[in-house]
Amino acid sequence: MTALGKLLRTTAFKLTLVYLGIFVLFAASLLAYFALNTRRLITEQITATVDGEINGLSNIYAQGGIRRLVMVVDARSRRPASSLYLITTPTGEGLAGNVGALEPGALDHPGWLETSYRRLEAPEGVDHHALVRVVQLPGGFHLLVGRDLEERERVLSIIANAGQWSLALVIVLGLLGGFFVSRRVLSRIDAMTGTAQTIMAGDLSGRLPVAGTGDELDRLAVNVNAMLERIEALMRGLKEVSDNIAHDLKTPLTRLRNRCEQALRAASDVNYRAALESTIAESDELIRTFDALLMIARAESGQARDNMAEFDASQIARDVGELYEPLADEKGITLKVDAPAAAPVRGNRELVSQALANLVDNAIKYAGPNGKANGAPAEIVVKADNDGDRITLTVADRGPGIPDSDRGRVVERFVRLEQSRSEPGSGLGLSLASAVARLHGGELKLEDNHPGLRSTIALPRAGPARPAGNG
Ligand SMILES: Nc1ncnc2c1ncn2[C@@H]1O[C@H](COP(=O)(O)OP(=O)(O)OP(=O)(O)O)[C@@H](O)[C@H]1O
Ligand SMILES: [Mg+2]
Repeated sequence: MTALGKLLRTTAFKLTLVYLGIFVLFAASLLAYFALNTRRLITEQITATVDGEINGLSNIYAQGGIRRLVMVVDARSRRPASSLYLITTPTGEGLAGNVGALEPGALDHPGWLETSYRRLEAPEGVDHHALVRVVQLPGGFHLLVGRDLEERERVLSIIANAGQWSLALVIVLGLLGGFFVSRRVLSRIDAMTGTAQTIMAGDLSGRLPVAGTGDELDRLAVNVNAMLERIEALMRGLKEVSDNIAHDLKTPLTRLRNRCEQALRAASDVNYRAALESTIAESDELIRTFDALLMIARAESGQARDNMAEFDASQIARDVGELYEPLADEKGITLKVDAPAAAPVRGNRELVSQALANLVDNAIKYAGPNGKANGAPAEIVVKADNDGDRITLTVADRGPGIPDSDRGRVVERFVRLEQSRSEPGSGLGLSLASAVARLHGGELKLEDNHPGLRSTIALPRAGPARPAGNG
C-alpha cells in the first residue's frame, strides 16, 4: 500500500472527513438561512415603502385629481433613486413616470409583480428587475409604483460569494488538518507496529513507545506495556522452571547412565548385560531430549544472540553432508551436497548446524528405503543458496513427505506424525530448526518436493544483498 493510501485509510482521516462533511452541511444551511432571511427582509422593506407611497399618491389623486397626481409623480420621477413610477390612461398611454418599457401585460393585473423593465432614459436592451405594485385608480387610470431589485440581488450575490469562498477554505483547511493529524497518528502507530514486530520475533524486552501526552494511544501503549511486563515475567518463570527441570534431571540421569556403564564393565551375564545396554541407550535418548529442549529454550529466549558471529552457511552444508554420508550410505540413500558459492550468515554457528542436521536426520529417517519410500530412487539433496538478501539451506528428499494439513503442527514440540511412530525420535527436531530460524530473523519452510519433503531454513544474508539466483 502506498504511504498516501495508508494515510487515507486511517481512522483519524476518515473521522476528519465525516466531521468535515457535517460541518460543511451545517455551514451551507446556515448560509442559506441567512441569505433567504436577508432576501425576505429586503422584500418586506420594499413592499412597506411601496405600499406607503401608493397610499400617499392615492390620497393625492382623491384630493387633487389626475393633474395633481401627474405633477407629483413627475417630480418624484426626476429624483435619482431606485424608485419607479408610472401613470397610464385606461388605454395604456403613459402620462407620467420614469418607466420606459415593461413586460407586456404587466399593467393589466393589479397587485404585486416581479417584472423586468427599462428606464425611460436607459438605452435599449439594458433591462433591470423590479418589484412593483399596480393599482387601478377610480376613473380607470393605472398607477405603478416599484423599486429596482438590483440592490437585493447584489446583497445576495455578496452572501453567495462569501459562502463559496468560506466553504472552499473550510474544505481545504479541513483536509490539510486531517492529513496532518493522520500523519501524526500513523507515525505513532507505525512505531508501535515496529516494536510489536520485534517483540513477536522473540525479543520480549521490547516496549511500545509512550509519547507522554496521556492521550488514548498513550494509554493503550501503557497498558500493552504492562501486559508485556507480565508476560515477560511469566515466560521467564516458565522458562526457568522448564530449564531447571531439564537441567536438574539431566545430572542424575547422567549419573545413572554412568553407573550402568560401570556395572556393564563388571557384568558377565549375557541377559544382565543386555538389560544394562538397553538402559544406557534409553538414558542416552532421554539426555538427548533434554539437550534438545535446553537448546530450543536457548534459541527461543534470544539468549543465544550473545554468540553471534559471521560464518559460511555453505561450509555448514558441506560439514553436515559429510557427517551424515555414512548413515545415508548404510541405508542405501544417495546424499548429494550442492553448495558451490559462499553464503555468509551472521548468527550462532552451532545452532544453525544443529538445525540443518535435524532436517538431514529427518530426511534419512523418513525417506529412505527403510522409511517405506514410494518407489522413487532414494536421494537427498542438501543445498546452500543465495536468494537475494536471504541465504537458504534446503534439504530435499523423495520420501512420503508431510501432508499440507500437518505442516503447521509438526514444528510444535513433541509432535510426531502417526506414520513415523516406528522410527525413534521425540518430535523436537523441527521445533529446534524453526526456533533457530526465528532467532536469526528467518523462517523454516516445509514444502512439497513432488514427491517428498523440501525443508528450507531461510536466513538473512550477511553483507550486501545480491540479485536472486546468483550463485
Ligand atoms: N523428511 C520427512 N519426511 C516425512 N515426514 C517427516 C519428515 N521430516 C519430519 N517428518 C515428520 O515430522 C515429524 C516431526 O519431525 P521432528 O524432526 O520434529 O521430530 P522427530 O524426527 O520425530 O524426532 P526428533 O527429530 O526429535 O528425533 C516427524 O515425526 C515426522 O512424522
Ligand atoms: Mg527429526
